[in-house]
Amino acid sequence: MSGLYIHIPYCKQKCIYCDFYSSATRESKESYIKALTKEISLRKDYLDKPLRTIYFGGGTPSTLSKEEISLIFNAIKDNFDLSLLEETTFEANPEHLNKDYLDFLISTPINRLSLGTQSFDDNDLKTLGRKHSSLESIEVIRNAQKIGFYNISIDLMFNLPSMSLEKWKANLFKAMDLNIQHISAYSLSVEEGTMLDKLISKKRLNIPSETEQLEQFNYAIDFLESNGFEHYETSNYAAKGFRSLHNSNYWNNTPYLGVGASAHSFNGKERRWNISSIDNYSSILNSNSKEDYFEKEILSEKDFYNEYIMVGIRTKEGLDKNFVERNFSETFSKEFNKTIESLLNRNLVEKSSQNIFTLTRKAIEISNQIALELIA
Ligand SMILES: C[S@@+](CC[C@H](N)C(=O)[O-])C[C@H]1O[C@@H](n2cnc3c(N)ncnc32)[C@H](O)[C@@H]1O
Ligand code: SF4
Repeated sequence: MSGLYIHIPYCKQKCIYCDFYSSATRESKESYIKALTKEISLRKDYLDKPLRTIYFGGGTPSTLSKEEISLIFNAIKDNFDLSLLEETTFEANPEHLNKDYLDFLISTPINRLSLGTQSFDDNDLKTLGRKHSSLESIEVIRNAQKIGFYNISIDLMFNLPSMSLEKWKANLFKAMDLNIQHISAYSLSVEEGTMLDKLISKKRLNIPSETEQLEQFNYAIDFLESNGFEHYETSNYAAKGFRSLHNSNYWNNTPYLGVGASAHSFNGKERRWNISSIDNYSSILNSNSKEDYFEKEILSEKDFYNEYIMVGIRTKEGLDKNFVERNFSETFSKEFNKTIESLLNRNLVEKSSQNIFTLTRKAIEISNQIALELIA
């Protein structure tokens, strides 16, 4: 099985915390969609297995018009076998999902919505530069459910400026009222150069202390698990049977094709990434230029090993000693065993079952540091 990722690098506005590459001007959109559909047809043989998942990510896919979405689906249908397609996710901002747009989305292969709700507190939304209210998010979720979307994920952020534990709890309670199937709960990361970064430096915004941050994270794990949500990846929680298939495939090395500016692809041997510039990407593809619109590298054993560590450390599946011994040479497995032993002694990992190691609760927040100890 394999996956297709479609990158839509447009946003109607820039949120103060976000440093994802996206453009707020949309003049280039027509030529971008043309280039995107061309790339879909040029790369139809990149994957040798039928598609199991499709993921529209961004930026903001819900900046696409109905016609643009149809053009993309027509290109996909013309070039790929969709007979085994199980999950098609569409990332959307609540303010774009009016009744008419939702009715259109449900008529396409899209069967999973990922909504950028971020917070159910209107003051937070205003501070973050979001263009929707909490009520709009709630109405969109209810409308989507009414017309038949039964697999809805929401993005929430914690450790927001001035966020108390009580306020974070209120967000999680609200989420549970909505009968959604999946939550991505991200700890706010202050990215250099963003407006958020500047406002914090000028002391116009304050983020919670490290102790408060940890409290919010731990609360989310306990609360969501007690409500039947599986904490299957550092930032992801799913009701039974509703893990994101597409993202889970990234985490278990299933081949995927990524189309669009800055999209990455992996076919089991090589990794490829498209150039980030919307204009250069579109002009190379639309002009039939011989110039490459991507770079690539063949992955070495060390690359595969490091990826296995980086992914495994974040997921519930953890790191498997037997897998390491079976798939990597002795240099890697010896080093792996030595470091795992040391992490065990410091109570940073635990043996969750026969030869499988996962992070202990106190280690989840410092998963990046632990990954650094393990990688080659
Ligand atoms: C690529 S964004 C696209 C989602 C969509 N455009 C939206 O804003 O709803 C995916 C998610 O990443 C999260 N995110 C973006 N920047 C972040 C940051 N600095 N810290 C934590 N989470 C962030 C937000 O929750 C966002 O919904
Ligand atoms: S959070 Fe979403 S809408 Fe806001 S700038 Fe980032 S990608 Fe765009």
